[in-house]
Amino acid sequence: MSSTTTTPVIQATDLEKTFRDLRAVDGLSFTVQSGECFGLLGPNGAGKTTTIRMLYGFSRPSGGKLTVFDRDVTTELRAIKQRLGICQQEDNLDPDLTVRQNLQVYARYFNIPSSEAAPRIDRLLSFVRLDNRQEARIIELSGGMKRRLILARALLNNPELLILDEPTTGLDPQSRQQIWQRLAELKAEGMTILLTTHYMEEAAQLCDRLIIVDNGQILVEGSPQALINEHAGRELLEVRQPDQDVRRWLQNRGVSLEDLGYRLLVTGEAAHHTYHDLRQTYPEVAADLRMGNLEDVFLRLTGKDLRE
Ligand SMILES: Nc1ncnc2c1ncn2[C@@H]1O[C@H](COP(=O)(O)OP(=O)(O)O)[C@@H](O)[C@H]1O
Ligand SMILES: [Mg+2]
Repeated sequence: MSSTTTTPVIQATDLEKTFRDLRAVDGLSFTVQSGECFGLLGPNGAGKTTTIRMLYGFSRPSGGKLTVFDRDVTTELRAIKQRLGICQQEDNLDPDLTVRQNLQVYARYFNIPSSEAAPRIDRLLSFVRLDNRQEARIIELSGGMKRRLILARALLNNPELLILDEPTTGLDPQSRQQIWQRLAELKAEGMTILLTTHYMEEAAQLCDRLIIVDNGQILVEGSPQALINEHAGRELLEVRQPDQDVRRWLQNRGVSLEDLGYRLLVTGEAAHHTYHDLRQTYPEVAADLRMGNLEDVFLRLTGKDLRE
């Protein structure tokens, strides 16, 4: 048992992927331990999907080393894929089949005997709350239902590692919550999960540990709360649509200021009393004293918004 708990499920070392002269993945090193929910958080184009694709063999690394279950992805892909569940970024359900048939086809692909597949499909459809939609066509499903079906499909082979590429992108808040709930349950059962997202809230809710990536490189690694405490501060002041007076007033106070044009952030110890002074001086200005979040971390590290 001890070897399974100490050997990382995923180990990436100086991982690279180059497309012509573009370094889409530029030297990523990270490990994912068994039972962990690990996140790749970053804006569009950061290299998240490219990284994920190398994990399941869709794309071959240009450099570095990548092992899953202690096996090299370039030489032992078949053995790895048996133990993986993958939810790709794009919906790739078969539109000509029903909900249930989509799962049956996959079960055959994994050589699961139909006597075993049937109860497993029942259980998974009920897990993703699609048991009353079994005979529906894919076209009849909402975006959230499709994502849940893709999740059920990824779980068909009882994977030890579940990989999700932007599992809730484009979904409404309620559908997003439903996916988060299912993932939280899987996590509680001990499933190892790797997910990518550009929603800092998703990463904060689900991930034990994460890396923030930009331009194919890691900016920081840590638990959501530790990253927030270190780079954003527990409390910060956000001023929206500041006019020149307010901006100059803040600049003259010599506080740590992030200027995004349409909003200003004051971080660190000064946030609290700056807020109260600002309220006195400019009662009309739109300002909040709030908790720091992962978006603030990204902003502090790059000077950019995560969701541009
Ligand atoms: N097959 C490809 N050929 C050329 N460029 C690609 C290819 N796939 C991805 N890229 C580029 O690599 C970068 C990272 O893309 P991607 O991994 O999809 O980012 P993310 O998933 O974080 O949004 C982007 O600049 C993208 O345009
Ligand atoms: Mg992507």
